[in-house]
Amino acid sequence: MTKVRMELGKRSYDIVIRPGVLDSMKLQMRKDRKCLVVADHNVAALYLDKVMARLKECGANPISHIIEPGEKNKTLETVGGICRTAAQAGLERKSLIVGLGGGVTGDLAGFAAAIYMRGIGFCQVPTSLLAMVDSSVGGKTGADLPEGKNLIGAFYQPEMVIIDPEVLNTLPAFEKRNGLAEVIKYGVIMDYVFFTDLEKSKGEITPDVIAHCCHLKAEVVSEDETEQGRRAILNYGHTFGHAIELLSEFKLSHGEGVAIGMGMAAAMSVRNGLWSKEDEKRQNDLLLAAGLPFRIGGFKAEDILAAMHHDKKKAHGKLTLVLPVELGKVELFNDFSDEAILEAIRSCCD
Ligand code: GLY
Repeated sequence: MTKVRMELGKRSYDIVIRPGVLDSMKLQMRKDRKCLVVADHNVAALYLDKVMARLKECGANPISHIIEPGEKNKTLETVGGICRTAAQAGLERKSLIVGLGGGVTGDLAGFAAAIYMRGIGFCQVPTSLLAMVDSSVGGKTGADLPEGKNLIGAFYQPEMVIIDPEVLNTLPAFEKRNGLAEVIKYGVIMDYVFFTDLEKSKGEITPDVIAHCCHLKAEVVSEDETEQGRRAILNYGHTFGHAIELLSEFKLSHGEGVAIGMGMAAAMSVRNGLWSKEDEKRQNDLLLAAGLPFRIGGFKAEDILAAMHHDKKKAHGKLTLVLPVELGKVELFNDFSDEAILEAIRSCCD
């Protein structure tokens, strides 16, 4: 078993990574603690019974709330439904909401835990690679509005994150690729040795790889929990990628959007003399080996740039780009002209 510690003072917590933990999870649990397990239909069919059984063995009193899968259900209505089930079952301040599933479920369950009775206990049990290495760690919770993605939410840390890498055996290949984009991202933004390990293994996912990603994320989040500065490096590839996801009406997955965004950010760096062509190739070769794109066809560069600006306007933010300056190091830039950004995007459009 590997434990990664998220150091956040009184709100510190462990991220536990152990193959088979869902079959043998032992939690210190106040007797009869009410627990509301939130899962979507797909994940519930595979893992809900196991998790409910483990919680009962630990002395808890669990109930469940099933949600519809998919980003289109990441709404305030879904959060309201979770809170209503919590109220009807009599959950109180010392109770626990468990998010069992991928990023959408974790974000929704976490947001419900943040606002129900002004905050109750929360535990993340991620079942997708993307949720294991990114969204379940660090306390970002929330829901979408018709006006945009993740426009409402809260920083709300879990009490614990429990990761069973064995559940990846049931994860569809496209979902693994989705998470691999974030795994490769960590190597490019902050860990050259990890990047070279991924090159050697061609992006093989092991419990150690998951633990290392959690460790890297915990290091960044414990330094900048609410993204006042350094945490923004985790958005590498996301400013371009998010716009691409939106333009494709979510036909391209988050991972594909991020991978293409990494391709565009790398091109931007190289074109402006910040990064070498060799390192750009190493990044793009690794994305390719993981089955991910780093270029895009069928979209106009102008539309991608407009979507980036539109997205930022909604978030009342400036267009900040996270660009590589070494393999294993990125910096934030917000003074590039639209023309320079457009040129870089164009160079990645087929
Ligand atoms: N997914 C980026 C972050 O948690 O900050």
